[in-house]
Amino acid sequence: MEEILRVNGLSKKYEDLTVLDQLSMSVRSGEVVVIVGPSGCGKSTLLRTLNALESIDGGEVVLEGEVINPGNKNLSRVREKVGMVFQSYELFPHKTVFQNLTLAPLKVMKADKKETEKEALALLERVGLSSKKNSYPRQLSGGQKQRVAIIRALMMHPELLLLDEITAALDPEMVKEVLDVVLSLAKEGRTMIIVTHELQFAKAVADRMIFIDGGRIIEEGPPKEFFEHPRTDRLKKFLHSFSYEE
Ligand SMILES: Nc1ncnc2c1ncn2[C@@H]1O[C@H](COP(=O)(O)OP(=O)(O)O)[C@@H](O)[C@H]1O
Ligand SMILES: [Mg+2]
Repeated sequence: MEEILRVNGLSKKYEDLTVLDQLSMSVRSGEVVVIVGPSGCGKSTLLRTLNALESIDGGEVVLEGEVINPGNKNLSRVREKVGMVFQSYELFPHKTVFQNLTLAPLKVMKADKKETEKEALALLERVGLSSKKNSYPRQLSGGQKQRVAIIRALMMHPELLLLDEITAALDPEMVKEVLDVVLSLAKEGRTMIIVTHELQFAKAVADRMIFIDGGRIIEEGPPKEFFEHPRTDRLKKFLHSFSYEE
């Protein structure tokens, strides 16, 4: 498979704090990479640098052969290629669901109006929200909002989708309806980097797992190896923190 993203020796600091420490990774087209790690280890920072939302202090991010950084002129094209969904839905509160979906394609990409509207309707149907087309975000549940946020990202036809703890703020009964959408995207071959604490889901969706601690990749591998035979003490300890014992 062709490589879509390459991160070479990426470093990021906030003043004296080194958040990403010469981190390197690559993602192939169609691959689903799930990143886990303790709170504060740099997961969100990494995803933001991939979308050029953060400046970097060293190394480089190469997207489809093109080096990206926040100073680039090609930045808006990068942002079109990389879709991102966050823990908080970031929908426009004063726009309807339908307007939230069609706004960026029409304004930013100058897409065809008819085609865009058709696509928005099809995506709403796909995630079971056709009836919410004219609702405002505040009239939706958290799970519904997050499904809208996912399809809003899809409306831009991203090459790579970044999902940062998209179920972390949801009530437990809404987690599955959102993760099922993500699973269906994985099945259709979307390239995704997913940060999550839902380990069962990670096992089901990941082609490759990555464990980050202290801004470095400590361990990576296929999910079965990763969860059943962790090699490092740090990953063992991390995985253990999710299990209950009497
Ligand atoms: N804008 C910022 N300014 C200063 N420190 C930050 C900023 N954003 C994140 N950090 C710090 O960087 C570290 C990594 O944060 P983050 O990438 O959000 O971790 P994670 O997503 O893995 O929980 C944390 O110590 C956090 O406090
Ligand atoms: Mg985070």
